[in-house]
Amino acid sequence: MWQGRVGVLALVVVAILAGIPMCGAGGGGGDNQLEVYSWWTGPGEEEGLAAMAQEFEAKNAGVAFVNAAVSGGAGSNAKAILASRLLANDPPDSYQRHAGLELEDDVRSGKVQDLTALYDREGWREVLPQGLLENLTIDGRLYAVPVNIHRANLLWYTPAALDELGLGGPPKTWPEFLAQAEKIKEAGRTPLAIGPQWTQKHLFETVLLGELGADKYEQLFAGSLRWTAPEVQAALSTYQQVLSYSDLRSASGDWQPQLDRVVQGTAVYAVMGDWVSGYLEGTKKQRWQQGYAAVASPGSDGVYSFLSDAFTLPTGARNPELAEKWLVECGSTEGQNLFNPKKGSIPARVDADAKLYPGYLGWALAQWRDPKTRIVGSLAHGVVANNAFNAEIDSALGLFNQNGDLGKLAATLDRTFEATR
Ligand code: GAL
Repeated sequence: MWQGRVGVLALVVVAILAGIPMCGAGGGGGDNQLEVYSWWTGPGEEEGLAAMAQEFEAKNAGVAFVNAAVSGGAGSNAKAILASRLLANDPPDSYQRHAGLELEDDVRSGKVQDLTALYDREGWREVLPQGLLENLTIDGRLYAVPVNIHRANLLWYTPAALDELGLGGPPKTWPEFLAQAEKIKEAGRTPLAIGPQWTQKHLFETVLLGELGADKYEQLFAGSLRWTAPEVQAALSTYQQVLSYSDLRSASGDWQPQLDRVVQGTAVYAVMGDWVSGYLEGTKKQRWQQGYAAVASPGSDGVYSFLSDAFTLPTGARNPELAEKWLVECGSTEGQNLFNPKKGSIPARVDADAKLYPGYLGWALAQWRDPKTRIVGSLAHGVVANNAFNAEIDSALGLFNQNGDLGKLAATLDRTFEATR
């Protein structure tokens, strides 16, 4: 039976403050139960997970899928609770992690098991893109099973708002955005909707990508371009200007309310990943290119800033055999095709049937598969920065919201990048 999630923020906060692991609340532990941990509690994402869970239960008679999801976009709460559970040696049977350096942290600290044999048994190396496999491989071994590919560098809007304001089209560069933003403000609307801290970091990476270009963006996170370099400082200054046209001071709620303001028309643009399409299509009943639209975020046409949600087999999982079966579901064509259309992502597997992905997702799939597309990794969603540097960026951006000091921001990022390498 598909069981209810633990999505109550109050419970999360109490648990963090008291240092209480959430296992009891999550309901894991029984012999015939599989506890799966994620942060998918919103419309679209929750349904996608439920669809995979139902198929898992149908294939594994008598096994209960226990949904231990903790609410909060980008895992803003879930990751903290998970950390305390892992510390207390109380892991769920499988948990969500992003491909990339976020996963590498868990591998280096021994929190997840080697899945190379499972990969070989299932033949997954032949059906997953090489670049993605590299982000799941540490020292030649594979450690998580990806369900999807998301795109982070997108600018969302409604064609109606652009028509009403006579804007002609979405901006192709950030300077163009700034010029439009002035007009939008004069018309009494918010140029850019924003949400909680992690959405600001998402905007931050998107401005860096658009202003620096793909090569320098990658160099920055690889350590061969410094945060204090003149072009990076110029990009940070653009970020500051872009943010000044957002509703940062009044924004409340997570990414869904952020997009609600765009759909309602009080705000004109939002930068967000393509989980938006699952939400707008499903909950808001909007249709691609009619009710809503998206383009590559300014300055990043032809670039696909990717992230991938993957599931792990934690060290000390209570039911490793069931967890393996869950991972098989995650890696299967059927599982991915059940999950992704609802979630608003494209399948990680290269052999999925494109016909199942209409509208926005069809466009995304075509871009992802186009050999001319340049692929880079997302910062806010775990690909290009480890958890320690990501946390430092969070603090630095929070402080920057208070003091607006660009020099300090660059110096702090430069120093903390080195310190957390
Ligand atoms: C990302 C995650 C997506 C989606 C998004 C918003 O980190 O990879 O699947 O959940 O956060 O919560």
